[in-house]
Amino acid sequence: MDFKKSAVYQIYPKSFCDSNGDGLGDLKGVTGKLDYLKELGVDYIWMTPFFVSPQNDNGYDVEDYYNIDPRYGTMEDFEELSREAAKRGIRLMLDMVFNHTSDRHEWFQKALSGDPKYKNFYIFKKGKDNGEPPTNWESKFGGNAWKYVEKFDEYYLHLFDVSQPDLNWDNPEVRQELQKVIRFWMGKGVKGFRFDVVNLISKDRYEDDYEGDGRRFYTDGPRIHEYLQELNAATFGTDAEIITVGEMSSTSMENCYRYASEDGRELSMVFSFHHLKVDFVGNEKWVIVPYDFQKLKHILFDWQTHMAEHHAWNAVFWCNHDQPRVVSRFGDEGRYWKESAKMLGTVIHCLRGTPYIYQGEELGMTNAHFDQISQYKDVESLNHFRILQEKGLPESAVYEILKIHSRDNSRTPMQWDGGKYAGFSDAEPWISVNPNHVRINAESEMQDDDSIFRYYQKLIRLRKDYDVVAYGDLEPLDEKHPSVMAYRRTWKDQELLVISNFYGKEVIWDAGRGLNGYTRLLGNYEDSRLNGTKAELRPYETVVLYRQS
Ligand code: GLC
Repeated sequence: MDFKKSAVYQIYPKSFCDSNGDGLGDLKGVTGKLDYLKELGVDYIWMTPFFVSPQNDNGYDVEDYYNIDPRYGTMEDFEELSREAAKRGIRLMLDMVFNHTSDRHEWFQKALSGDPKYKNFYIFKKGKDNGEPPTNWESKFGGNAWKYVEKFDEYYLHLFDVSQPDLNWDNPEVRQELQKVIRFWMGKGVKGFRFDVVNLISKDRYEDDYEGDGRRFYTDGPRIHEYLQELNAATFGTDAEIITVGEMSSTSMENCYRYASEDGRELSMVFSFHHLKVDFVGNEKWVIVPYDFQKLKHILFDWQTHMAEHHAWNAVFWCNHDQPRVVSRFGDEGRYWKESAKMLGTVIHCLRGTPYIYQGEELGMTNAHFDQISQYKDVESLNHFRILQEKGLPESAVYEILKIHSRDNSRTPMQWDGGKYAGFSDAEPWISVNPNHVRINAESEMQDDDSIFRYYQKLIRLRKDYDVVAYGDLEPLDEKHPSVMAYRRTWKDQELLVISNFYGKEVIWDAGRGLNGYTRLLGNYEDSRLNGTKAELRPYETVVLYRQS
């Protein structure tokens, strides 16, 4: 399967579909919805971790890489899912969390018991003479990144939660153990892997950071390319059908040229996040500022053009389980909900790269906007609820921030229908259902030819039907325009123009050349108003034009 023509659908199993009425989604729930995914037209399903885990970080804290957490089902359920997916031409992509394990993992338990072999699987260091931790690095989830262990008078590193100790990749035994994990799942027929925060695995400089939170000392570290090449050669690189994507935290484009080079020595493609920090202040996400549209365009275009020049491949996306819902973020979840959701989908799906759809995005699901702390489940959100108040923010201001930035905004149950629990479960779900499921749900959208779901089907199809969508180069147009994002894709004799209004006001956009002679492939209004060199764009209007010379 050509991954340049494919679309990947991300499933957060905990919130996708509950088959056994315990309020938690599970693997059988996913199997039951394969026909829906087939109808949407996706080629791969990326499943976030369902391995044995205490679930402090919803499965990103793995206790056992070889077994399914009973909450999600059994190995038989997994095999059934895999078989049923294959029947429908859908492949599975599993999430490999290799920067850290859970503190309940057998290796860490042995480390804590003092076994030197396993202590060397993790990163233990002495504190400073003044009694402070080894460095002043901050955990991504808040607080210092080191945890003191009295028994050793040493600290271990946890870049994420205290229950997620970082693995020591400099130890070859660690790397070999992780290779075994991949080979195990390859043996089960898995054809895709996503590697969680994989650019953080090579650390060498344990120094205080006086300019930031420490990330410059452990991001894209000195042996990262060596480690990825080794992993590739020892595991997935032996099967040309396997596709891989690396989650690259605060990465640089120069490193991504190599991570995702088309020479295939490292990974097939990368997720980078710079375009999703345009509503942050620097690296600080716990603030409320309007998003910077110019910056958004600039970053997207920069990655598009430079990755292509360096023969490297992007994963393109707006949404995942760590991001708020895009229609709430860069669109309009109110009056122009449908128009803006379709427009945002168009922008991503017509870029150069493999598009990823996060469950419910194809329905236009919106942020949860929870306003009670008991509704929040995410460790990062709960930590920051406390940290921000400790910094002096009133509780009400903290809620306003969480409503915009919390990861729980995208983790609410998938909205299958308008019933009590949105068709997700018969029992009360582990996290509240968004009340707007009575209006926004799969059942109603599948009956409506003009729905966001039907539109996403067309977007996925476009990449398969038109080589220019899959392979074309990209040229930004009129980059500085205050409200329009426009680009041209070209491939052999094919040309595509994608013109999108990101705001709720009408605008006349001048293409600077004739727009006649193009066919309209897609748009989110009934027609398109093109006149000479000008496109008249209604609120959040998008149009995809095509011509072959
Ligand atoms: C990645 C995951 C996120 C998780 C973190 C730590 O960013 O996407 O959900 O919390 O890694 O594993």
